[in-house]
Amino acid sequence: MGCSSNKGRSILSRVVIVGAGYVGLTLGVASARVGHEVYFVDIDPVVVDKLNKRQATFFEAGLQESLNTLFSQRQSIAFRSMAELSQSAPHQASTYIISLGTPLGPDSRAQLGPIEAVAKEVASYMTDDDLIVLRSTVAVGTSRYLLEHIPSITNLSFCPERTIEGKALEELTTLPQIISSNSTQAEEKAKAYFSTITQTVIKAGSLETAELIKLASNSFRDMNFAFANLLALISEQHGVNVNELVSLANFRYDRNQIALPGLVGGPCLEKDSYILAQGAPGEHSGILFGVRHLNESFPTKAIDFISRKGVSPTASVLVCGAAFKGKPVTSDTRGSFVFQIVQGLSDLGFQKSNISILDPKVDDIILGVKVINSYCELRSKYDYVIQLTNHDLFDTKEFDAFVSDHCGSVISFWPKNERLNTIPSKHLFLGGLRQNNENDI
Ligand SMILES: NC(=O)c1ccc[n+]([C@@H]2O[C@H](COP(=O)([O-])OP(=O)(O)OC[C@H]3O[C@@H](n4cnc5c(N)ncnc54)[C@H](O)[C@@H]3O)[C@@H](O)[C@H]2O)c1
Repeated sequence: MGCSSNKGRSILSRVVIVGAGYVGLTLGVASARVGHEVYFVDIDPVVVDKLNKRQATFFEAGLQESLNTLFSQRQSIAFRSMAELSQSAPHQASTYIISLGTPLGPDSRAQLGPIEAVAKEVASYMTDDDLIVLRSTVAVGTSRYLLEHIPSITNLSFCPERTIEGKALEELTTLPQIISSNSTQAEEKAKAYFSTITQTVIKAGSLETAELIKLASNSFRDMNFAFANLLALISEQHGVNVNELVSLANFRYDRNQIALPGLVGGPCLEKDSYILAQGAPGEHSGILFGVRHLNESFPTKAIDFISRKGVSPTASVLVCGAAFKGKPVTSDTRGSFVFQIVQGLSDLGFQKSNISILDPKVDDIILGVKVINSYCELRSKYDYVIQLTNHDLFDTKEFDAFVSDHCGSVISFWPKNERLNTIPSKHLFLGGLRQNNENDI
């Protein structure tokens, strides 16, 4: 990768990131850390405005600090369109990274339109020496489709993003990076770029292989959790502690790697099994839909439980966790079950003023309920507690004491929290830590 100089500072190459969300922004920061000149393009004016003020648009360990320190050379680092970028910063040989979101359409299939439109737009600014890296998670065959429908793309690589939110900046430098390309030149360029960020770059045999690696990884996790959740439901029926079941089954038995049950949310796991199913032979895609349906149905069990107990007009509930997960810490509420839970409580007759949501990292209003960030802001008493995530805040003696002294029934989706089991007269849902008779609360 050639070196050039910009205002006296040596830079490795120019990298343009189109779609500056979780994936694009963290990769952009990782690229800037090793010396690339990074520009962001995003259609969201709020994102562009914040980045130009060096404000992180979400919480990610190390992100804000990097924005403060890395981008001091230029006033504008983010633009609303390729046209705006090219006016401000004339073309140089570049790596263009496409990292748009790929939400499902109403038919539960990945929408190709936005990716195709952006790839076309980017291609119109490229020379034959430039490289497009498709980084978004896509249905198998998407990269090939873009090459066939946008003939001006000379070099295209699909290089899946496999980091976990909350540790993305660390993992970008430690995880092996898989690359796949349409040409030797694209492969050399992709390898040269990613080798500046991480030590291990592995070539996949085809674009389709790399696309499937990404989908397989997330769908495997989804399936593993669905299996654990199914075990939790079976355990409940038979008075078995699923925590004990899983740990003993796995103990010194390498053939087993059964997960513990829990909620399966987030912007990736909520969709990637569906995207994998798009590439599966029709008669066998049902297994992937089954996995999704089981994991999607889990939170309703909390609502069903409360519904059976009845709700008085003054009943109050504390929902613990608004981000889609607790560890590693994130502020991301996409794919979080908090929405379904609050909606379900509201449908049962809970007044919004009697619902509290506690999450230390989320600064938001969820369906009319403001998220609070610490115990100091809680009410003195709750009839129900629903623990959605395993954030460290809910893994403390303070939490146990609060639940023990101020709360009625506990519905926890985290059977790992064995300590809750020691609190007398509380129902612990999911996983059979202790099967209380519902009447003893
Ligand atoms: N979030 C993760 O941890 C993660 C991990 C691996 C893979 N992925 C995949 O990476 C992709 C991006 O995920 P994300 O979480 O960063 O999404 P995101 O929604 O956080 O970011 C996407 C960004 O693209 C912008 N955008 C949308 N349309 C645009 C357009 N036409 N031009 C320019 N910008 C546009 C949006 O405004 C947004 O800022 C998805 O396919 C996702 O499945 C995400």
